[in-house]
Amino acid sequence: METTVILLKPDCVGRRLVGEVIRRFEAAGFTIKGAKMMAMTRELLREHYAHLVAEPFYPLLEAFMMSSPVIALAVGGDGVIERARTLVGPTDSRKAAAGTIRGDLGTDNRRNILHASDSPEAAAKELSRFFHSGELFGD
Ligand code: TYD
Repeated sequence: METTVILLKPDCVGRRLVGEVIRRFEAAGFTIKGAKMMAMTRELLREHYAHLVAEPFYPLLEAFMMSSPVIALAVGGDGVIERARTLVGPTDSRKAAAGTIRGDLGTDNRRNILHASDSPEAAAKELSRFFHSGELFGD
């Protein structure tokens, strides 16, 4: 069984969509293996979004991600890394199909509700970035 990392972003928390998003993962047959609410720091964001730090939109992304706490989830299931990305939809919510989480609930390419690890390598890195081993259950 694979495990992926989902971050419920400030727009998800602020718009009270936490339950709806978790419901969708559970309805798809995935299992919550870890969960924590946390305030993102500048340092953690620079590590998590290292591939984007030089982008002109990075300051806005950083401000958004620090505008309220986020909720980090470890989500387990067969093929969950790729299947979660399909469930989430593309980065820009305006271009995401109906039926995807971003297509149904997101606003644009920054306020897009959640993060999902994009590869097995990223999932492994993000699991150790956001969780200690004692904070993951069900293995
Ligand atoms: P990225 O890793 O490209 O996408 P995804 O979240 O779909 O894996 O980008 C990370 C986040 O950066 C994205 O979820 C929202 C933010 N972002 C912007 O704010 N503006 C942009 O133009 C892009 C491409 C991303």
